Amino acid sequence: MPHSLQPPASSLQPDARAIQAVGLTKIFRTYDRRPGFWGGMRDVVDRRWKELPAVDGIDLKVPAGEIIGYLGPNGAGKSTTIKMLTGIMRPTTGTIRVNGFDPHRERARYVRTVGAVFGQRSQLWWDLAVGESFELLRELYGVPKAVAAERIARFDAVLGLADFLRTPVRKLSLGQRMRADLAAALLHDPAVLFLDEPTVGLDVVTKAKLRDFLRELNRERRTTIVLTTHDLQDIEALCSRVVVIDHGKVIHDGDLEGLRTRFGGGKRLALTLRQVAPALPELPGVITSWQRRDDLHLVAELAEGADIPAVLQRLLAALPVEDLKIEEPEIEDVIKALYGGRS
Ligand SMILES: Nc1ncnc2c1ncn2[C@@H]1O[C@H](COP(=O)(O)OP(=O)(O)OP(=O)(O)O)[C@@H](O)[C@H]1O
Ligand SMILES: [Mg+2]
Repeated sequence: MPHSLQPPASSLQPDARAIQAVGLTKIFRTYDRRPGFWGGMRDVVDRRWKELPAVDGIDLKVPAGEIIGYLGPNGAGKSTTIKMLTGIMRPTTGTIRVNGFDPHRERARYVRTVGAVFGQRSQLWWDLAVGESFELLRELYGVPKAVAAERIARFDAVLGLADFLRTPVRKLSLGQRMRADLAAALLHDPAVLFLDEPTVGLDVVTKAKLRDFLRELNRERRTTIVLTTHDLQDIEALCSRVVVIDHGKVIHDGDLEGLRTRFGGGKRLALTLRQVAPALPELPGVITSWQRRDDLHLVAELAEGADIPAVLQRLLAALPVEDLKIEEPEIEDVIKALYGGRS
């Protein structure tokens, strides 16, 4: 079939293009280095090996056309998962099907159906100009010239590529490089897109444009997207579902609201006082902590399931309350807690 008549990748095998991973595990074998020169010498003959299960039995199913946020603290195993899903890394155990392929074993055919952006590292040729890289990829994926030109024009409108099409990749700023990488990952209209920290280094305006663009891509092309990000706005704008991992295991799989209920802790009472209170009432088991925003603005963290009317009564009796508000935990705080202290 001539290239021009080939259907876009995303219309191939509509049922087969979802992601399915079962029992996905990656164990890294590393060794503890002994300190100093003699320690180094001893390491040569007697290595103290240890095994790190970076990804530890993950089951993940992503239906075609879904955008999921793949979240978790530093070192949780996000990038390792994505490397296995993209076929870059071989799983220690477990099986993966994406677009009907085994990513690692059938890599050559598989890569034509997926795109990947790793914020930490460029997929482009360091010494080639951005435009030349695009041309190489176009050839590699067999995208007709006119189609590629049209797509690049579209990417340019969103990402602003024109200014650096002739610049060698190694001379790009971080943000420019990210934009070039994104365009490169999308040139062949992949059915599945893996984005590992794609908004790192982008300015606020470009971030917003990129989110709009990804939403549009998902709507128009039904592109399945797996997104790893530390940016709450990315998650809120894009992800209908969030999978949170920690120590290589899934600890939450559901919507953002579910994440809030599950990890957000109890409600909070925000009080405004008429005058400074000499002492704050302690209600062990009901109020878990007090925070002072300033002398007159206090927040009581309530234990989960606390009897709110009863607490209110006690507080109104004990403090000169002018105003009060019941606050739900902010999703931002939930994410911060997830990314900051490990669960
Ligand atoms: N090639 C490797 N060899 C040995 N250990 C590795 C290797 N790659 C990653 N690790 C370890 O595996 C664990 C998971 O790393 P991974 O990069 O997947 O985390 P992450 O969730 O992407 O974190 P971050 O938010 O920092 O990007 C970490 O403890 C890391 O040190
Ligand atoms: Mg990572």
